[in-house]
Amino acid sequence: MAELLQKEINESLQGTAFAPFANDPNKYSKKFYIESYGCQMNFSDSEIVASILQEEGYGATRNFEEASLVLINTCSIREKAEQTVRNRLQAFRKVKEQNPGMLVGVLGCMAERLKAKFLEEEKLVDMVVGPDAYRTLPGLIEEAETGQKSVNVLLSREETYADIAPVRLDSNGVTAFVSIMRGCNNMCSFCVVPFTRGRERSRDAHSIIAECQDLFDRGFREVTLLGQNVDSYYYLPSNETEANKETEVTFGKLLELVALISPKLRVRFSTSHPKDITDDVLHTMAKYENICKYIHLPVQSGNTRILQLMNRTYTREWYLNKVHRIREIMPDCGLSTDVISGFCSETEEEHQDTLSMMELSRYDMAYMFSYSERPGTLAARRYQDDVPEDVKKRRLEEIINLQNQHSRESYTADIGKVFEVLIEGDSKRSDADWCGRNSQNKMVVFPKGDYNFQKGDYVQVKINTATQATLIGVVAE
Ligand code: SAH
Ligand code: SF4
Ligand code: F3S
Repeated sequence: MAELLQKEINESLQGTAFAPFANDPNKYSKKFYIESYGCQMNFSDSEIVASILQEEGYGATRNFEEASLVLINTCSIREKAEQTVRNRLQAFRKVKEQNPGMLVGVLGCMAERLKAKFLEEEKLVDMVVGPDAYRTLPGLIEEAETGQKSVNVLLSREETYADIAPVRLDSNGVTAFVSIMRGCNNMCSFCVVPFTRGRERSRDAHSIIAECQDLFDRGFREVTLLGQNVDSYYYLPSNETEANKETEVTFGKLLELVALISPKLRVRFSTSHPKDITDDVLHTMAKYENICKYIHLPVQSGNTRILQLMNRTYTREWYLNKVHRIREIMPDCGLSTDVISGFCSETEEEHQDTLSMMELSRYDMAYMFSYSERPGTLAARRYQDDVPEDVKKRRLEEIINLQNQHSRESYTADIGKVFEVLIEGDSKRSDADWCGRNSQNKMVVFPKGDYNFQKGDYVQVKINTATQATLIGVVAE
């Protein structure tokens, strides 16, 4: 089995060339600036955009005032995310007034959602480009340079940018994100993603493994496999028939293939939909030391009626069983979640179910939001956004307070333990300290001392103290 997998990996590496991950800005005549909002998928897409632009002779700059092309990769997930983007566009407007030759392009989910309407709403925008249209950027830029506004928001059933080697932006040289699929077929009723990102499609497994191997060869030590719903990853080489499933790659298989690149390469993934994460995936995680013991498992609500309205397709009991299964197979697995407060028609009792769900699941960390109606979604069309803003806010506060307590307890419980930490760089507070994460995705900070460790090294660290988001320790002797 392992031999066969290794053979596949070797074959997959042939003929794949990757662009350098750090570029020399002086080499390029034109400069572009890109800012990204939203989920990791968007940040990962910006690295694909950077690669496409680099081919066109554009070098990246961190200062938008010196760029001839300013791009903003946008998110539509909540009203607030869109407001942030509009505020940033105001800042760009001021610079453009001084420098009319500067082109401003809106990329990503907000571009897809608003399409050409964006050009009417925001006069300073020159280009509107949806997430599946980045290959056409060179042509769109050319068009915009002649003074025309350019738009491409076509969604695709096939585009995965599999052959484009991302230019790593703002990289620490140790950890990287690798996109394995695009789009989402799930249709959670609150969510705009299926409309902004289109149908789900999986990227060619060989190109994923080749990209991970290349990262490892360049000194990277951790990859996070990205998708809106990674557990439904499925790849069957096009020359294979459905009847011959030997070469099919499920998510479990993909995880294994990436883990086999090297025991020194950590593998993470995000995000798992509770309905799709299988025992096979859990057993694969347990089998390989280098597959990190951490799962982000968005629950959204702890109440079955609300979950049904959300179209999440699982019940409270089903979710709890999944958590139980994870803990059974991997007792040391870290767990985090996403929660929404105040979804349409949520009662006080149903909100209490979310709090009790949190008590039962004991998340180490959570992203918590109050419901924000998105135009065009199933919920916007079918249900009344009828929980008053102040109630949503109060429920959210209760959720946050409880999670803070759980996080504190979870981090405090690690005091005295020894973890293997992958060094990512200097700690934010002091360059006398290293920071990195343990397998469970908790940030660990420890003094560099007289040891000769480098970024990308694995170190055993003994935990002495903790806050609700950081473990603090010393190198274990
Ligand atoms: N694909 C991932 C989630 C992507 S969006 C998944 O299925 O888990 C990230 C999170 O944003 C969601 O899990 C949800 O908690 C939150 N979210 C999405 N739409 C929202 C909305 N309309 N209002 C509030 N929160 C929302
Ligand atoms: Fe949105 Fe649901 Fe798809 Fe996640 S799984 S992106 S929440 S529709
Ligand atoms: Fe936002 Fe689009 Fe991601 S809406 S969360 S950037 S897929």
